This record gives sequence, structure tokens and C-alpha cells, in this order.
Amino acid sequence: MTQILTPSTPARLELDKIELQVARCPSLPSLNSINKALQELLSVEQRYSSQISEVIRRDPSLTSRLLRLVNSVYYGLSNPVNSVEEAVFYLGMRQIRQLTMVTPIIEDFQKLTRQCAFPWREFWQHSIGCAILTREVVTAVSTSTDESDYVAGLVHDVGKIVMAWSFPDHFAEIHRQAHDGTRDLSEIENEVLGLDHAELGALYLERHRLPELMVKSARFHHHPEKAGAYAHIVASVQIADLLLRKENIGCSGNYQPVTHEHCLAASGWSILLPNASDAEQAIAKASLHRSLERLPHVLEGLV
Ligand SMILES: [Fe+2]
Ligand SMILES: [Fe+2]
Repeated sequence: MTQILTPSTPARLELDKIELQVARCPSLPSLNSINKALQELLSVEQRYSSQISEVIRRDPSLTSRLLRLVNSVYYGLSNPVNSVEEAVFYLGMRQIRQLTMVTPIIEDFQKLTRQCAFPWREFWQHSIGCAILTREVVTAVSTSTDESDYVAGLVHDVGKIVMAWSFPDHFAEIHRQAHDGTRDLSEIENEVLGLDHAELGALYLERHRLPELMVKSARFHHHPEKAGAYAHIVASVQIADLLLRKENIGCSGNYQPVTHEHCLAASGWSILLPNASDAEQAIAKASLHRSLERLPHVLEGLV
């Protein structure tokens, strides 16, 4: 298909150009309020590593950077570090402080580039909401053992931050087109940039040697049936993502409406509850409904 270019339309890019730019992508930006909260916490004498972890866990960018750092410093650990708490324990306060000192802020970047007014705070709420709800989905259908499912939910849409940061003109054009919610976001991203946020996020995480679960979550959160050994957790991410969008909690930047039927038909359910009776499914879904009701209040206090 020939693309009609207006002077303001950035050209669609080839994969090798995108990969090169992703490889050069500097530290991902964080939300001002979270970086501030973390710096304040680091400046007081009496603080606990659990408090530090709790703040970092509200930020997909900081979490990715922290896990990237710990896994490169401790390269060769038999199991990569998937948990924020564990990463904070391994790295110690000095390294965490260094991490926050070089954190770019997404709001400054938006002002600087006069980029389209993307609702970043609400996007952060979408990411944290997805992390919390992914945990709830996992625990509603099985027993959750560590927090790797939380991190998988937190970073599922990290490709949107990578896109805004590395391809600001394409990002602005994509969200200009996506705003009326009549077309699928991935389709617009593929058309305008040449890659969608799922693949771009996965490329970024892969490039920075982040744990495979995070890569799979980013790449397959719209198609968990392709996630192989991680299908169970990625299916939980898919369900969490859809429920948040259906309830309009936070903003994912995908304005296509999600209906109740859409949520029920999600491929993730057949991965999570393949042989469940209707009654068992109803119990699992009812417990999620209660979590969803509480979530907006929880998120208000977090970012
Ligand atoms: Fe997505
Ligand atoms: Fe999402």
C-alpha cells in the first residue's frame, strides 16, 4: 500500500532502522511524582528497602532499569532476578540512588518536544493497575509464588514508552489517529511506524537482556496463546489489561472500546481455566470484580 505523506507525517521505518534506534534508546523516562517520592525516601535516614521497592514497583521504566542493572551486574545467576524486592536487596542503596539521579522525566520530555498531550499519569495507572490485577488473576486461578507476575503486568505496554521516547513524531501521529477509537491501535502503529508497541517493547527488553517472562509479556499480551511456557502468566496479563480497559481505569492509549463480551471471549480464559466448570469460572470472575471495584481508589494514592 502506498503511504500518502503530508509534510507532518513521519515516514514508516524499516525494521533495521527501528532496531538501531531501540539499541541506542537511553534510559526510559519515569513519572515525575514517582521519581520525586523515591528521591525523598532515599534522602531520609530511617527507611527500609521494602519502602524503596514499593515505590519502584509503581514505575515500569524504573523497574525495567533496575532489573536490567541487577541482571547485568549479577550476570550468570542461575535464575535471572525477576523481582523488584530482590533487585533492591542485591544492589543496595548507593546503586539505587545513582539510578534515580540519571532518571529522565516524561513530563519534561513532553514539554521539550511539544509532543501530543498523551495522558502519562493515567498511562502509569494503567500499567500499575495491570500489574496489581495480573497478580489477582493469577491468584484467583492458582497459587502465586513470587512477584514475577506483577512485573510482567507492569511492563506489558512498555513499548509505548519506548515509542514515545525513541520515535516521538511517529508516536504523536499514531495517537492523533488512534484518538477517536475507531481503529485498532496495533494496526495504526504498524502502518505509521512499521512495528506495534508489543513488538517494540519486546525488542527493547530483549536488547537490554531483561528476563524472558518480561519479554514474552510485552510481545504476546494480546496473544497469550503464543507465549509458550509463560502462557499462563501472559494470559493473566491479557485478562487484566482488558478488564482495566473495559472499566476505563487509567488510560492505556488504546481508545477502542472493550465490551463485556470481548473480555469473556479473550483467549486467556481458555489457557487459565481450560477445564473449569461454569461455577468455578463464576467464582474466579466474581473475585476479580471485587478487586476491580477497589482499584481506582488504590491507584489514586499511588501516582
Ligand atoms: Fe498493549
Ligand atoms: Fe495495556
